[in-house]
Amino acid sequence: MPLVSALGSIEPSSRDPDKSEAGVDTIEEAWRNLSLGGEKSFGKVLSEMAEDSDSLSGEMNTSSLTSKDFAGAENTETEVIGKNEGGGGKATSVLKPSPSLGINMDTLSEAPTGGSENSSPGNMMEEAWELLARAYVNFKGQRVGALAAINDESGGETLNYNQVFVRDFVPCGLACLMKTDPDVDIVKNFLLKTLHLQGWEKRIDNFTLGEGVMPASFKVGHDPERQKEILQADFGGTAIGRVAPVDSGFWWIILLRSYTKCTHDYSLSELPEVQRGMKLVLNLCLSDGFDTFPTLLCADGCSMIDRRMGMYGYPIEIQALFFFALRCARQMLKPEHDGKELIERIDKRITALSYHIRNYYWLDFTQLNNIYRYKTEEYSHTAVNKFNVIPESIPDWVFEFMPLRGGYFIGNVSPARMDFRWFLVGNCIAILSSLATPAQATAIMDLIEERWEELIGEMPLKVAYPALEGHEWRIVTGCDPKNTRWSYHNGGSWPVLLWLLTAASIKTGRPQIAKRAIELVEQRLAKDGWPEYYDGISGRYVGKQARKHQTWSITGYLVAKLMIENPSNLLLISLEEDKKIAKPKLTRSTSWTC
Ligand code: GLC
Repeated sequence: MPLVSALGSIEPSSRDPDKSEAGVDTIEEAWRNLSLGGEKSFGKVLSEMAEDSDSLSGEMNTSSLTSKDFAGAENTETEVIGKNEGGGGKATSVLKPSPSLGINMDTLSEAPTGGSENSSPGNMMEEAWELLARAYVNFKGQRVGALAAINDESGGETLNYNQVFVRDFVPCGLACLMKTDPDVDIVKNFLLKTLHLQGWEKRIDNFTLGEGVMPASFKVGHDPERQKEILQADFGGTAIGRVAPVDSGFWWIILLRSYTKCTHDYSLSELPEVQRGMKLVLNLCLSDGFDTFPTLLCADGCSMIDRRMGMYGYPIEIQALFFFALRCARQMLKPEHDGKELIERIDKRITALSYHIRNYYWLDFTQLNNIYRYKTEEYSHTAVNKFNVIPESIPDWVFEFMPLRGGYFIGNVSPARMDFRWFLVGNCIAILSSLATPAQATAIMDLIEERWEELIGEMPLKVAYPALEGHEWRIVTGCDPKNTRWSYHNGGSWPVLLWLLTAASIKTGRPQIAKRAIELVEQRLAKDGWPEYYDGISGRYVGKQARKHQTWSITGYLVAKLMIENPSNLLLISLEEDKKIAKPKLTRSTSWTC
């Protein structure tokens, strides 16, 4: 099977919009440009795997990987045991301590606060799988998801960590799909159960939510009268701030595509109710309105960052997920009935959205300098400063933060407002969905390397950078005591994000970035009891209110390891560039005429 179709398609090639020559241009070329050393390049291994026509059914031969294939990372020795040796996705890696840590490792291992005593990478993988098995949630005898956190040791208040969160389940589902013997049933059950919940009438006070809204979370309850298990779902009505989760529906579509790519079981995505579920999600986003931008207008707190954090408007996190979901749905929607018209709307939106984000959200040294010199109050089509951004509103930190090499998509763009903060999810999803052009994807990884201390520090990874402090924190978060500076969503470090960084690193041909981050995680995460997040400028402290044994901290690590040890797993969560989408003209002044 040629590399290009193995990389790009989840359906037979004649039906596959993702089948373009782009696959060769991006992933393979990126690998070729790497000088990883060793007998065989990492890229060669990847392409050999993709050429294996069985590779998408999880039957690839991982035993061909040797430490030499990973020779790109200094100070790293990796021993990968293939499925026939290790089995069960429990490959063993031996990674040397990172010299960057600067702490005596022995001291750390003496102080496990409720965490595991023995956290070598191999043991960590085993421990992670065991903990995950304890997180599974059953409904009527079937596993339908995983709890957000396993043991809520914090006592006191009852939080909602005993629920199955849709977004939290994504790395769990991916781990199940990527392991050597894929565990596909739980993913299918989860997709069908959440679809069923979407069908509920959703009311908050007297107001009815859109039909397509997917739950943020659900839990299994007990009906004492009928003596049976029931599902209880939250669509934002019981969440902090009462905001519906815009990301849930997008993640659901993305996971459905991963499931289909892994199993080749098209019967699920082709079910009329599944087709309808996808359409309902997309109808929420594609309806005509007052919009002058192709981006999606959102309330604050509608995604992973689910508290007030100044992300209202057009946050990059939602825009990138929106783009990703549009492209996944485009592959799975059938043209029958009203499908054709919807597909046309999707195509138009993909084009407009990518143009808008690639041009107006992109910031690098040159672009920052352009914005710094913007004229204001420009009217008409010839305006260069289209959103009338006042240069004085550029925060001081960004001038220091911006390296000469690298760039990123900023957090938000709306009239007279650019939120220059860095958000990890939006930037990595932009890479995985190919919303970022290959040049932009490379620049994002360059920035991560250049700003390692700020974005990775001692524990991967900052969800947002920098933190809001003082007056700004008061105004923007409403004095949120959970989101104080360098904590939680406000500059805290989230181990779950490791899987996104790893996927983006492999896709851009830079696995050594992921390997460095994985080493850091391996030094502390299990010993610390798999916390939800870390606090501090460099992420050194276990988060103030972090749960222990947080499921997505566990599965984020598993997915990262499953991908770095078997890079073809990336194919389950990455889309190749769509060559039909026009390339951006990064010079702002000429963008109107192109
Ligand atoms: C917190 C996080 C949210 C996550 C939930 C369950 O509310 O902000 O992103 O989904 O916990 O882990």
